[in-house]
Amino acid sequence: MSEARKILVTSALPYANGSIHLGHMLEYVQTDIWVRFQKLRGNRCIYVCADDAHGSAIMLRAEKEGITPEQLIDNVKAEHSADFAAFLVDFDNFHSTHSDENRELAELIYTRLRDAGHIATRSVTQYFDPEKGMFLADRFIKGTCPKCAAEDQYGDNCEKCGATYEPTELKNPKSAISGATPVLKDSKHFFFKLPDFEAMLKQWTRSGALQDAVANKIAEWLDSGLQEWDISRDAPYFGFEIPGEPGKYFYVWLDAPIGYMASFKNLCARREDLSFDTVWGKDSTAELYHFIGKDIVNFHTLFWPAMLEGSGFRKPTAVNVHGYLTVNGQKMSKSRGTFIKARTYLDHLNPEYLRYYYASKLGRGVDDLDLNLDDFVQKVNSDLVGKVVNIASRCAGFIHKGNGGLLVDTNPEPELWAAFQAAAPSVAEAYETRDFSRAMREIMALADRANAWIADKAPWALNKVEGKQDEVQAICALGVNLFRQLVIMLKPVLPKLAEAAEAFLNVPALRWADLATPLGNHRLNAFTPLMTRIEPAKIDAMTEASKEDLAAQSTGAAAPAGNGELTKEPLAAEINFDAFAAVDLRIALIEKAEFVEGADKLLRLSLDIGDAKRNVFSGIKSAYPDPSKLEGRLTLYVANLAPRKMKFGISEGMVLAAGPGGEEIFLLSPDQGARPGQRVK
Ligand code: MSP
Ligand code: ZN
Repeated sequence: MSEARKILVTSALPYANGSIHLGHMLEYVQTDIWVRFQKLRGNRCIYVCADDAHGSAIMLRAEKEGITPEQLIDNVKAEHSADFAAFLVDFDNFHSTHSDENRELAELIYTRLRDAGHIATRSVTQYFDPEKGMFLADRFIKGTCPKCAAEDQYGDNCEKCGATYEPTELKNPKSAISGATPVLKDSKHFFFKLPDFEAMLKQWTRSGALQDAVANKIAEWLDSGLQEWDISRDAPYFGFEIPGEPGKYFYVWLDAPIGYMASFKNLCARREDLSFDTVWGKDSTAELYHFIGKDIVNFHTLFWPAMLEGSGFRKPTAVNVHGYLTVNGQKMSKSRGTFIKARTYLDHLNPEYLRYYYASKLGRGVDDLDLNLDDFVQKVNSDLVGKVVNIASRCAGFIHKGNGGLLVDTNPEPELWAAFQAAAPSVAEAYETRDFSRAMREIMALADRANAWIADKAPWALNKVEGKQDEVQAICALGVNLFRQLVIMLKPVLPKLAEAAEAFLNVPALRWADLATPLGNHRLNAFTPLMTRIEPAKIDAMTEASKEDLAAQSTGAAAPAGNGELTKEPLAAEINFDAFAAVDLRIALIEKAEFVEGADKLLRLSLDIGDAKRNVFSGIKSAYPDPSKLEGRLTLYVANLAPRKMKFGISEGMVLAAGPGGEEIFLLSPDQGARPGQRVK
């Protein structure tokens, strides 16, 4: 028997400034399935990840929430970890790039690169926000497009006409942070000399480490010439200071991939069977795989292998790239309710439904993948409930009633059993090469065969015939054994279902090797339903709740409540009087306030605004469990907000409330004497 392979696997490190959504989850589910497959096969496979905790976006968001960046990344790490665990993504370690291990490794790699002559310095001129005292990345500068004169465009490209330009070409540039007019300022920057590694990269990117489509794209970049990479940022910045260079910080993308090493190192401290050098050393015989999305290919296939090479570490065995998730054929959209957070999904649906759907669509390529919600319901119900679980539920009853739960040790259809045996290596190969859609197709074809055979034998009819009971037991015993085969093959995708099946089968944790031998005379436990159908109403509720997240955000109701961190909201950037006057604020009388069926956070408010009636959906239900108490109350109302279409109807404008969310939402009211329709000035 061959030695177990030693494998280290990573997924990209999610940014610590936002929630995990179903797009991210595609990657973590893909990686987790592959890792679980390796473990099921008996390989020594370790899966590490971490939050990507550095950078100016995180610094600014923490400032906005009135907390320290450390507090922000701690909160987000807890949220991310809970989301991953709930989706059954089973990291051996989930660490943070803001950690001691990462600081040490980043410093080590940088000093080795510097000492080997791979770091250059030179002065860079950039926009600087004189009020905030910081240099501005392109996305923090806004101004008028130099090509089409559209206002309020970002520093590097125009969303109106699609032009790309330098921030210095923008007309009337403003800092998006303070609103101040930025000034040009020089500063010393540090560069990683990527061109030093051109020959190595040309060879490595063609060594089989990359999918063809990715290697081809990189060949284009290599042909057009490599540039030195700016790896420093000036204070204030949330990150690691560059050794010996006060006020200069590593750019977040320098220490982010080092976070893979740091997370593994952190795990090694707790696990005696693991050794950091054995995996990361130059002569490592372990395999190293990074799973990433197509948007971050250059960091992982150019900068990262060059950094590793230049600092004396091993390079990845392969970088596996996947495409982007679309929902119902389009980019995820907040207004359509298809920008679905992991948590919102979990509030409504079983995570294994999505794991299976993703598996059934994931191939080896970098194509985008569509989550079509109708197809999702149909596929899960028909394959998992209708085909797989059905086999066990059809057979279990006869075995319990007819033979006290004991399987008989006979095989009435050796050919069918042999067909399952013959298919297993091909399914394994599909998993190994990340061709999960093929694996799922082949498994479902086996399920079809098992179901067709059972339907043909019709044990339910035979059972009524005198003297046929032995035959019924033989059919059902094979049925249960074929079900067990399917469960083993699906276990990387459906670990919870497998666990429930193991309880029913009365067996220890199933391994891939268990495919070789059927259960003989063996007693089953009682059968409990292993998975229920998706009710389409749950999908509607989920997309509606995703729209609500947005509506609720406008009233503060969806903000993370309970830790008091939002009580210190700093003031927003100054606006002029015209901007204020453009908001048509009115007094409104709440005539009716009611629950919205199927919505967790919304109330429907019928407003009298003097000369008209308006219908508004407001995310304030958590604070007003008895909405009738709102009826007859006056409040403030934004009358000229563009109407928004929601599943329950159109929301026309918005009522005003204060507070962090949850129970603490305070609807605003005017003094006595105000009348509906009066303008607020
Ligand atoms: N922090 C960086 C990665 C650093 S790795 C050293 C980052 N973070 S991210 O949160 O934006 O994305 C994490 C992963 O999720 C990336 O691989 C990214 O491609 C993937 N996805 C984010 N949105 C996605 C979709 N809509 N669809 C599929 N994958 C997506 O990038
Ligand atoms: Zn333009």
